[in-house]
Amino acid sequence: MHAMSREERRNVVIVTNGGDVPGLTIAVLEAYAAVVENGSRAVGIGGGWSGLIALSEGASISDVSVPLDTSSSRIHGRVGGSVLGSARSTLEDPDVRSAVVEACAREGVDALIVVGGDGTLTSGADLSAAGIPVVGIPKTIDNDIRATPVALGFATAAARATDMLDAAEDTGRTHRRHVIVELMGRGSGALTLRAAVAAGVPAVIPEAELGPRAMESLLERQPYGAIAVAEGAFGWEAVAEGPEGGSAAATLARMLDEADGPERRIIVPGHLLRGGAPVPADRWLGRAFGRAAGLLACDGTSRLLASDGNRVWEEDLARAAEPPAPTCPRQVAAAGNLVVA
Ligand code: F6P
Repeated sequence: MHAMSREERRNVVIVTNGGDVPGLTIAVLEAYAAVVENGSRAVGIGGGWSGLIALSEGASISDVSVPLDTSSSRIHGRVGGSVLGSARSTLEDPDVRSAVVEACAREGVDALIVVGGDGTLTSGADLSAAGIPVVGIPKTIDNDIRATPVALGFATAAARATDMLDAAEDTGRTHRRHVIVELMGRGSGALTLRAAVAAGVPAVIPEAELGPRAMESLLERQPYGAIAVAEGAFGWEAVAEGPEGGSAAATLARMLDEADGPERRIIVPGHLLRGGAPVPADRWLGRAFGRAAGLLACDGTSRLLASDGNRVWEEDLARAAEPPAPTCPRQVAAAGNLVVA
């Protein structure tokens, strides 16, 4: 880390956008601390892209900022959610993006640190192309960002989903029932498969099409106990039909019924997978991503951060726009748990 002269001081804005994941707060606070310790100024903007859009509509930085301080990063390693808040807002409209870039110039913002999934990071890349340095921190419980083997939040969601499957397996085996647990993942089975392999129970995911014998082999493999199903296992449309969740589980329940499966129960943990304290792997990742992002932003460099859980490296920010990664084929091959037959 190099100390900056007064003239080199930069104004760095930090924002979290998209669905929350455990570890966001630690990433934000660590990025904040890295910028401040490097002699620059950091400001957290509330409400995801909406905060920056408000800035472009005339609000001042102080109207949309959230107070942060360097001492809190030690405590907030344990905290879920985002201290900045988040929103499902987009910057897809080029006029809105230009207005945001102009507002940042007006307010003297030199660089942005953006914590988000593929859509948010792609908007970050577009902002960077429009003239403001952006550092992207990848986060998603779906773990489908192609440029990084591991995204922030995945480890915690997988740990929590595994606990749920373990419990479902216990009660299901005791009562000789199926307990179908529907896990988040509209287009990605990564979370469902990771947790199912960890718990040792069968998984149904969008990336693996079911064959004509699928229910038969599922019943042979798991006559009772837990079954994990990704919410997008039967297509995006099925998720859209049931915004409260449960449609993939209901579809699977119907199929098992037709195949003369046992009595069953359905559990949809939904957003409970996204809240709560991060596990140590996500605390480490949040700190490592946050620290690296803070230093890069002070240098005015646009980058996407990536990690395998052991080290952090830099990628070209344009990689954010690559199509989402399907669940790792090696993981699929390793999993006797996957239902395909
Ligand atoms: O962004 C990932 C994700 O967790 C998906 O797995 C899920 O379908 C979606 O978010 C739900 O998001 P929300 O209800 O917050 O819009």
